[in-house]
Amino acid sequence: MAKVKLENVKKIYNNTVVAARDINIDVEDGEFVILVGPSGCGKTTILRMIAGLEEITEGNIYIGDRLVNDLMPKDRNVAMVFQNYALYPHMSVKDNLSFGLRIKKVDKKEIDERINWAAKILGIEQYLKRKPKELSGGQRQRVAVGRAIVRKPDVFLFDEPLSNLDAKMRVEMRSELLALHNKLKATMIYVTHDQVEAMTMGDKIVVLSAGVIQQISSPLELYRNPRNKFVAGFIGTPPMNFIEGEVIRENEKWYFKNESFNIDVSSVAKEIKPMKCTLGIRPEDIIDVEVESQEKISEEMKSRLDIVEPLGNDAIIHFKYGDTELKALVELSDKYTYNAELKFAFDLEKLYLFDDKGNRIY
Ligand SMILES: Nc1ncnc2c1ncn2[C@@H]1O[C@H](COP(=O)(O)OP(=O)(O)O)[C@@H](O)[C@H]1O
Ligand SMILES: [Mg+2]
Repeated sequence: MAKVKLENVKKIYNNTVVAARDINIDVEDGEFVILVGPSGCGKTTILRMIAGLEEITEGNIYIGDRLVNDLMPKDRNVAMVFQNYALYPHMSVKDNLSFGLRIKKVDKKEIDERINWAAKILGIEQYLKRKPKELSGGQRQRVAVGRAIVRKPDVFLFDEPLSNLDAKMRVEMRSELLALHNKLKATMIYVTHDQVEAMTMGDKIVVLSAGVIQQISSPLELYRNPRNKFVAGFIGTPPMNFIEGEVIRENEKWYFKNESFNIDVSSVAKEIKPMKCTLGIRPEDIIDVEVESQEKISEEMKSRLDIVEPLGNDAIIHFKYGDTELKALVELSDKYTYNAELKFAFDLEKLYLFDDKGNRIY
């Protein structure tokens, strides 16, 4: 097992495409870290640089105490699991599992022991003789993970390994991978574009956008204390509502204002200057005043519902106020129908403010 350290790592493809810039990540020995961000933000590039499959343009990568910048992939003792499984179709499960070890000329008895050990952990003992095409998606994914496990790597790298599975299987495999991590106590770096997956799996999440780290925090911290508008909008479903406007001072208080809204933001904003800004409010912090009550809420506003999305116990309601489209998360009820009147207010203690560059002010 080993820690992994990325120090000012940068990747530019073909002298033009900047895929990663100033990447600084510390992964402790035995830690499970998630990299999350939209497609194209540089997640695969970062994993491939750690694995040694991609040269780095600048910076340093350490695995354990070794600087591995110039080390061949095979000498890094890192195993990568890919989205598309990459199993050999003509080989049995057993041969797929043993392939890497046979190439490394590991002793036959040792290979058998490791395969039995891995197959048992993953519950694939009864499939060892089958070919990949005779397995379900989840079973294939387990074999792909098994192939990584038998190598006993210092570091596991997972590149969106669950994306090809159906929703139920994905949820199951998530907990299996976490259980595996607990069992092996191995260092794991897990990449996903799915913020829900990231939030449920990791306690250290690295949020990336356009090759730049936006924030490294726990799920709760990311949700409660996003550092900027990107993180605020990326983490959480449905996402945070954003309203463009400005803050102004009036009657010893601070107000957020635009053509439609006039919200007292004094509960969250202390020292601030009049400026253009974006107000953020999460869907669950918009209150239907006929149903819920809260201590500190804004003045009542009125709208009519455009869309109602029932989720079971809850519903997402879509409506417009002025030019702004809003989504609120409410308890499902018959009163929420198309065009029904809604009287709503904002929870004044749950407001966020961002400057015109997207940085969080409050
Ligand atoms: N081999 C390559 N040559 C040139 N550009 C690449 C190459 N691989 C990836 N890119 C670019 O680098 C950026 C990051 O890609 P990638 O790391 O695959 O993102 P992600 O895995 O987050 O979807 C993208 O803009 C992508 O088009
Ligand atoms: Mg990718």
